[in-house]
Amino acid sequence: MQEDLTGWVLVLHGGAKSIDPMKEAANRAGCLDALAAGAAMLRAGASALDAVEAAIRVLEDDPTFNAGRGSVRNSDGEVEMDAALMDGATLDLGGVAAIRAVRHPVSIARLMLRETPTLLVAEGARSFAAARGAELCQPAELLVPETEPAHDTVGCIALDSRGHLAAGTSTGGLEGCHPGRVGDSPLPGCGLYADDAAGATVFSGDGESISRSLLAARVVQGMETGGPQASMEAAIARLSRTGGEAGGIALDRMGRIGWAHNSQHFAVGIAREGGELRAFLHRDEDARHG
Ligand code: GLY
Repeated sequence: MQEDLTGWVLVLHGGAKSIDPMKEAANRAGCLDALAAGAAMLRAGASALDAVEAAIRVLEDDPTFNAGRGSVRNSDGEVEMDAALMDGATLDLGGVAAIRAVRHPVSIARLMLRETPTLLVAEGARSFAAARGAELCQPAELLVPETEPAHDTVGCIALDSRGHLAAGTSTGGLEGCHPGRVGDSPLPGCGLYADDAAGATVFSGDGESISRSLLAARVVQGMETGGPQASMEAAIARLSRTGGEAGGIALDRMGRIGWAHNSQHFAVGIAREGGELRAFLHRDEDARHG
């Protein structure tokens, strides 16, 4: 029987990773804080795009997560970040990659959204950010001394009350990676995709494996005819060919949610109109969803 789901929905994640027991509470609290920011916007009638950006900005400010503040160093000791945002209504896409010393990469992706290029990298991305008045910062402001080398990404998807979908990602990179390395997060069809005709999805994990397996494209194509949970599980199963750890969240145009991971943990938050905000660290905690 078809589920009767109406109203807005927001789903976010704080990364596919192994979570130290000492950090479980911070992961849950960080997801709930970001959910609260995005849900407040959707409750007030904001667009899915606005809600996704607002939720990711909270995750970027929280050093628990490897995005914005809490990013990691590449092999040159520098922080380079990737982020993207996609509008499911128009298929507009904005992304930045290997960008340095900006406070909120997702907001620069937002500024890129209506521009012709879909992706700017490195100095080109930062000079665009500066020219558009985005918040710049010192590289040291992004590094948190007590942060252990992390391996994860943050992401968010939303369906607003007008039926529009959006997807966003942000990552602080991989510890010790090659300077200039770009992961899956800003690449459409790899780390994210959103299309009002089908659904929205974002991924976290080993960027090279996610890109080589084209996971976001597979999930959105799967949602054209099937459900988000089955589509997501099939995508994660594809990693048996490339190896690698990942987790993904998906949302279809009817508001149905799917999420799966092959990592030890996956910090996920879910908010739905009329419901409470919920945070999970493993899919098994959320057996009632699908
Ligand atoms: N999934 C994030 C990255 O590989 O950069």
